[in-house]
Amino acid sequence: MSLRFRLIALVWVVLPVSLAFGSLAAWVNASRSVHVEMHAALQVARQTVQTGVERLQTARDPARYRDDLIASFNGNRHLRVWLVGANGAATLPVTERSPLGAVPAWFVRLIAVEPTTDRVPVVVGDANYGTIAIETDPRNEILEIWNEFAESLIAPVVLCALLILLIYLYIERALRPLGCLAAAMEEVGEGRYRTRIDGRLTPELARLRDSFNRMAARLAEADATNRRLNEQLLTLQDQERSELARDLHDEVSPFLFAINIDAAAASRRLDEGRAAEAGGHIQSIAEAVRHMQRQVRQMLGRLRPIGLAEFGLREAIENMVAFWRRRRPDLRYQVEICADCEDLGELLGTTVCRVVQEALSNAVRHAEPTTVTISVDCRDDLLEDRDAIRVVVADDGRGVCEPTRLGYGLIGVNERVNAVGGRLTFSSQPGKGFAVTAILPYVPVSNPLSPSLASTEP
Ligand SMILES: Nc1ncnc2c1ncn2[C@@H]1O[C@H](COP(=O)(O)OP(=O)(O)OP(=O)(O)O)[C@@H](O)[C@H]1O
Ligand SMILES: [Mg+2]
Repeated sequence: MSLRFRLIALVWVVLPVSLAFGSLAAWVNASRSVHVEMHAALQVARQTVQTGVERLQTARDPARYRDDLIASFNGNRHLRVWLVGANGAATLPVTERSPLGAVPAWFVRLIAVEPTTDRVPVVVGDANYGTIAIETDPRNEILEIWNEFAESLIAPVVLCALLILLIYLYIERALRPLGCLAAAMEEVGEGRYRTRIDGRLTPELARLRDSFNRMAARLAEADATNRRLNEQLLTLQDQERSELARDLHDEVSPFLFAINIDAAAASRRLDEGRAAEAGGHIQSIAEAVRHMQRQVRQMLGRLRPIGLAEFGLREAIENMVAFWRRRRPDLRYQVEICADCEDLGELLGTTVCRVVQEALSNAVRHAEPTTVTISVDCRDDLLEDRDAIRVVVADDGRGVCEPTRLGYGLIGVNERVNAVGGRLTFSSQPGKGFAVTAILPYVPVSNPLSPSLASTEP
């Protein structure tokens, strides 16, 4: 059942219950008040008739005086007064009808006040002038109460109808934004992260709207980052594959061909008994194999982080430095790696390498520095509950106001650092260099570099 109908049903339940209580109280009061009213009217009438009968003793025409006395009650709305003759014959008065209409019989039964009759004999000396009968007639009083009761019902019924109408309209209006929110959620669920909710709303719903918009914006950002990283991944994969293909083509294929030729030549020479010449060809084959070993080792180095598995973190970083030193021998490179950080495990070690690789390449490419410093140390004051590995790559180059436009490099590194629960920060000032700092939670190595990796040699 919808919220709107639940609220309306609630009003429908509350209304009859409150009306029932009100009616019960009204019924008790009405019954009591009709009773009291009738009793009082009977008392007053009896008093009046008795006084009249006393006066009648001295009246010149007692029968006429009696009739006048009875007639004086005509039109009384609460009493009927009539004469019962000495022989039992009665002259009933005309019943007074109320101009206010009629009361339902069930209501009269509900009030349950029966007429009461009183009789006053009219005797003057020895003469009997009959008996005056006085009877209460509660119908008019009940009718008044009925009319009041019916009137008093109108207000709550109208109020309730209005309330239901207002609830209906208000809930309809108040819930409309929830419908929009549900539709917007569905759109986001289907991957349309640009969906936003706007418009004026109540404070509660405005909070919901703002949270939704923030969530959609974050999802849109994450989606864009994902797409970018995927594209980057594909580009890098393609790049890497074509480099490998080129290396295989340029550095391995010709040597395999040469080996094939040398092997054939050596075989021929041996068949011809010219062993000395065959030795020359075998020598060439050995050289070609050594060359291919070097090439394959280099390719493996590119496929896995720079010899981390084979040589450890220090040598992997020094390999990277050596790579740049060959290309930019004019720069000074300082490497400080604390002894505790030599074996960080594969995941942490690879992350450290990737940070250093990107920051070092950025320093050479963008900074025009004279010195690049790389430091990796273990600290216990950087994270709350555990030791941390701090990696800093700083240069003294031209710096930037702020690296506002991040390229794939720093975004990718940031992702990697976040993935291991760390954080990456940059600090730079124009003319005062650039520093990249990664703080990585230290995880003690339970599973050192796999022996299969460590022993892989070309
Ligand atoms: N050491 C540095 N000195 C000065 N500017 C830097 C330095 N490192 C990064 N930057 C600035 O930050 C920007 C973002 O670097 P990032 O590595 O993300 O991208 P990139 O090097 O331009 O491209 P990519 O790494 O994707 O090939 C750089 O374009 C550069 O402007
Ligand atoms: Mg870069």
